[in-house]
Amino acid sequence: MTDATPPAKNQGGPQTTTAPTAGGLAGVVAGRTAICTVGKTGAGLTYRGYAIEDLAEHATFEEVAYLLLEGVLPSHAALRAYKTRLAEMRGLPPQLRAVLEQLPPDAHAMDVMRTGCSTLGCLEPEGHRSGRDIADRLIACFGSMLLYWDRYHHTGKRIETDTEDDSIAGHFLRLLHGKPADPAHVRALDASLILYAEHEFNASTFTARIATSTLSDFYSAITGAIGTLRGPLHGGANEAAMALIERYPSPAAAEQGILEALANKTKIMGFGHRVYRDNDPRSTVIQAWAKRLSQAVGDTRLYPVSERIDSVMRREKGLFPNLDFYSASAYHFLGIPTPMFTPLFVIARTAGWAAHVLEQRADNRLIRPSADYTGPEPLTYVPLEQR
Ligand code: COA
Repeated sequence: MTDATPPAKNQGGPQTTTAPTAGGLAGVVAGRTAICTVGKTGAGLTYRGYAIEDLAEHATFEEVAYLLLEGVLPSHAALRAYKTRLAEMRGLPPQLRAVLEQLPPDAHAMDVMRTGCSTLGCLEPEGHRSGRDIADRLIACFGSMLLYWDRYHHTGKRIETDTEDDSIAGHFLRLLHGKPADPAHVRALDASLILYAEHEFNASTFTARIATSTLSDFYSAITGAIGTLRGPLHGGANEAAMALIERYPSPAAAEQGILEALANKTKIMGFGHRVYRDNDPRSTVIQAWAKRLSQAVGDTRLYPVSERIDSVMRREKGLFPNLDFYSASAYHFLGIPTPMFTPLFVIARTAGWAAHVLEQRADNRLIRPSADYTGPEPLTYVPLEQR
């Protein structure tokens, strides 16, 4: 494109005409968004212009989901109505419950989420439903799907997923523990869901946008995003971080273990980031929650081990914890089993994914980049009988 060429109308796909020199599309601007800034000079991490620190401290997850999807903060009445709407969407159709019952008890919880999403897409297809309705439905019932499957297979009970809780966090913790949750725990989980809700063109969101750009349906975009989030370089890092933290009986043992792992060039999950260079602002917030929850449960091992891993990684590699690292111990102190950590990320990020699907649809162009060819020069085909 020359300087005289007007910019393409649609910014839904990559606009660059030069091949990216770095692998993994690092540093490549692949489109435009009005939803979120990540590490932007002078702004940091913002959702629709609001700083993540303010949202995590003062807002609720439902307020943030509304903000992401509608573009503005809700009024008091609008938030009340939105919470009621989400609460009314928690029920699971009998056919979906039957599918969840058929899945193996030892299935990966992210496979359950992916299958649950895809199944709902068969039972409640997009058809005449709006993307906005499907977004709310998925945000509301992902927790129901996971916990219906989990409780059925681990307690033999077919739980009722409609509860009177007025928040996603409270609903999740009640279904998990079978009783109303401590309000402080609800608040902690709520803050974590806010932190996980959105993060610009991360891998899973980009997946959702790519699927959307082909004019595919809403469920396909979210199902693909779940599959992408599952990997340990992305959302699966919170579960991998927990496995790491739990491995060490003391901070000293953690220090030794991390030094050995680094010497072996092993990646330490929950550290580093593609975009942030010095700090993940979400980590600061969730670390404070992890510390508070650790003190509340009388933990003397996991949090000190986490802090030591953090300081060793900074000292040895200049790497900082990302959101997944302290989320792991925070979730653990809330009594959440490790295999449910990444599914919780799904519940939260559905708000962000959905906002991106709607944004992509509003100004769509097929996302289809090009590749540098590294294969053989043209070859003469040799018929089978001559080989
Ligand atoms: N532990 C140890 N070393 C790490 C590391 C980690 N968590 N993250 C990055 N590095 C090192 C790499 O080994 C590499 O070193 P080298 O140049 O000597 O080979 C260098 O830092 C650059 O890492 P790279 O993986 O190329 O950066 P990236 O931008 O492609 O990857 C992540 C970003 C997030 C995938 C990467 O930091 C990572 O794998 N982190 C662990 C997984 C994780 O926590 N994911 C959740 C992200 S929110």
